[in-house]
Amino acid sequence: MTHKFPKDFIFGAATSAYQIEGAASKDGRGQTMWDVINHDEQGHPTADVGDVACDHYHRYKEDIQLMKELGLQSYRFSISWVRIYPKGHGDINFLGVDFYQRLIDELISQGIEPTATLWHGDLPLVYDENGGWLNPDTITHYLNYAKTCFDLFGDRIKIWYTHNEPWCTAFLNDHPLSQQLQIAHHLFLAHAKAIQLYKNHPYGDGKIGIVLNLGKQYPKTFDKMDQLAARNVDGFVNRWFLDPLIKGEYPKDMIKLYHQAGHSFTIQEEDMDLIKSHPMDFLGINMYSRGVQSYSPFNPFFYAQDYHMPEATYTEMGWEVCPSSLYDLLIDIKEKYQNIPVFITENGAAFKDEIIEGRVHDPLRVDYLRKHLESVYQAITDGANVTRYYAWSLFDNFEWGLGYSKRFGLIYIDYETQNRIIKDSGYAYQKIIKKRSI
Ligand code: FCB
Repeated sequence: MTHKFPKDFIFGAATSAYQIEGAASKDGRGQTMWDVINHDEQGHPTADVGDVACDHYHRYKEDIQLMKELGLQSYRFSISWVRIYPKGHGDINFLGVDFYQRLIDELISQGIEPTATLWHGDLPLVYDENGGWLNPDTITHYLNYAKTCFDLFGDRIKIWYTHNEPWCTAFLNDHPLSQQLQIAHHLFLAHAKAIQLYKNHPYGDGKIGIVLNLGKQYPKTFDKMDQLAARNVDGFVNRWFLDPLIKGEYPKDMIKLYHQAGHSFTIQEEDMDLIKSHPMDFLGINMYSRGVQSYSPFNPFFYAQDYHMPEATYTEMGWEVCPSSLYDLLIDIKEKYQNIPVFITENGAAFKDEIIEGRVHDPLRVDYLRKHLESVYQAITDGANVTRYYAWSLFDNFEWGLGYSKRFGLIYIDYETQNRIIKDSGYAYQKIIKKRSI
């Protein structure tokens, strides 16, 4: 049976600046932490780095032609803060600005809607060296940068994402938990203040939201203790972000759990009001997998242990493929979070790819894409307010700490020649978009 998507549903694909642009020292771009990691003192790479990546900075026109060939209606990219402000703030670098002007104009002239993430994991190095998001000054600098982006690009960009995956920023570091919670809180404040800024901006007639990485958590069995484990991990990964951002309050069970373990952070009296009074227009969800939790007395915190499903397919990232969990997640959002409009801002899979006679056959990724879109379709049919889907990713690219070893693209990149090959999954997506059905 074919399932037709609503006529205003939008199909797109996503990338981020550091993962694809390359041209790391071109046209006055400043440095981020990623320009130091895996580089020696002279700046030479010692392992995979994003110095060249997909060379999208130079090849954006050719890349937009590929987007057009796939039939993308919309493109989610991120703006590199250090191309705009090489030192984080101070003088604007107009060569960097010019790149995004050309990119945006070319997208529009080819009939593809540009949508932009303000910050996707590439904080200016100076701020990282000063405590990153733990330091409230970073919020001030971020707002200055956000305003500059609205001034420069807001006439043509009508969909903005404040942050990508604050969970990763807050928790994937060596700070003690209290500080990690503080980082998350600062990100929420920066987000709410960016919304405030945008809504009062002359170009502020578009939509603005955040991008969270969410994954439904299931108990391994019906046992009470497994359920507790799943609830705790759900609190850590999902509710800690959804509740303050949508309901304006932190989940009480998690506050209690953190307090009992001696962890706390500072909330000023007005903070929650600020967040509450600047709601986002939509929620962006990056969804890759789910979690299955079993009770473990050895994890003194969440009492949870990730359970590996013996029969399931796992991607190259070690993430379980479970499309039905996307359906469950979307229904949860509908029921528990006021049916806020949702964009799937990332969804995709890394599998090993091989070129055979000039083609890349990637049946596992084709299957992943189709099944997740089926879940989206089903959730919409059952009342979930999902209006967009962006595949991750348009291209194979620099997968952060894992370098070029993981390929997520609908388009294969040969990093030696920079040749691009549309994979079978790219053609499958092209067909889906063309028919608007699955
Ligand atoms: C997400 C990131 C994205 C990419 C995918 C695989 O967590 O937002 O940049 O790395 O995972």
